Amino acid sequence: MRTTTDPGVAAEALAAGRLVVVPTETVYGLGARADLPRAIARVYAAKGRPADHPLIVHVAEARALDAWATHVPDFARGLADEFWPGPLTLVVRRSDRAGDFVTGGQDTVAVRVPAHPMMRELLTALAVLTSDPSIGVAAPSANRFGRVSPTLADHVREELGSVLGPDDVLLDGGPCEVGLESTIVDCTADRPVVLRPGRVSVADVEQVTGLVVGLDSPVRAPGTLAAHYAPQTSVSLASLDELTRTPVSPGQAPIGVLALASVPTPPGMVRLSAPTTADDYARVLYAALREADALGLDRVLAVPPPALGVGSAIADRLARAAAGG
Ligand code: TXA
Ligand code: MG
Repeated sequence: MRTTTDPGVAAEALAAGRLVVVPTETVYGLGARADLPRAIARVYAAKGRPADHPLIVHVAEARALDAWATHVPDFARGLADEFWPGPLTLVVRRSDRAGDFVTGGQDTVAVRVPAHPMMRELLTALAVLTSDPSIGVAAPSANRFGRVSPTLADHVREELGSVLGPDDVLLDGGPCEVGLESTIVDCTADRPVVLRPGRVSVADVEQVTGLVVGLDSPVRAPGTLAAHYAPQTSVSLASLDELTRTPVSPGQAPIGVLALASVPTPPGMVRLSAPTTADDYARVLYAALREADALGLDRVLAVPPPALGVGSAIADRLARAAAGG
């Protein structure tokens, strides 16, 4: 895998059918042209991902949504207007363009316009190279199946360095600004359903659409199962009280602490990170979980931030990390 910071180089590699690790504002993605089944098959193989887990199609502009979808309800357009480019994925009825090899055989497709400036440049350059303004880049998070999503180019090298080929490219866009995967909203019924929380919250979706978000959806989002997003080290959710009352035994590997900076580190424990806001917590979360593995900690005690806005998405990922340990 070659590293570049030039979106034009990355676009040429994608156009030629190579895999490109792409920076987005959420997490890094492992991208392939969404119209090339052989390239997509390599994405699944590199990740070790089951073939029925659908991919998100990334496009340059909101108007490309209509090329990938057959029916887009008004509330979905409202969400796209408000949050694109940004950390929001819309699930809509697919058009013929969205092959089974991208949708995992479902009759829906997930579409997102990402905001990272280098990713936007890449998508625009690819549209020019292929003379196709609606061209899509299908990209799951650039981690091995079931592991923590990468938010830095170094994480990507750890995850995929040994499985990608010499002609595949890593577009290094620095640290991801949001740090958690996009919010996924199912737009196939008469009201939105949040399938995966993210920086865009349920309250945001309700405010923009004027609709009450449904809690249940017939749509599957494989990979949003409990026990995803887990590091090797076991993770437990703790209240402030539980944290301070946890005994530290001298003979044992240290316990790691992940909490807002306002929470002090109990004596004998190792501070993984001390974010000052919920947004900051989201940004450092996955790097902190990787650090826990690197340090060989006994376990991690995580005190989540208040469950408001992105705080709910952090609690969701921590609960999954806890289920996987
Ligand atoms: O922020 C993100 O969304 C990142 C960046 C790279 O864009 N991507 C990402 O992709 O997290 P991935 O593949 O790790 O997670 C995508 C999730 C999976 O849980 C998948 O099941 C769900 O989206 N998904 C994709 N297409 C779907 C569809 N048609 N219906 C329901 N869920 C879908
Ligand atoms: Mg993923």
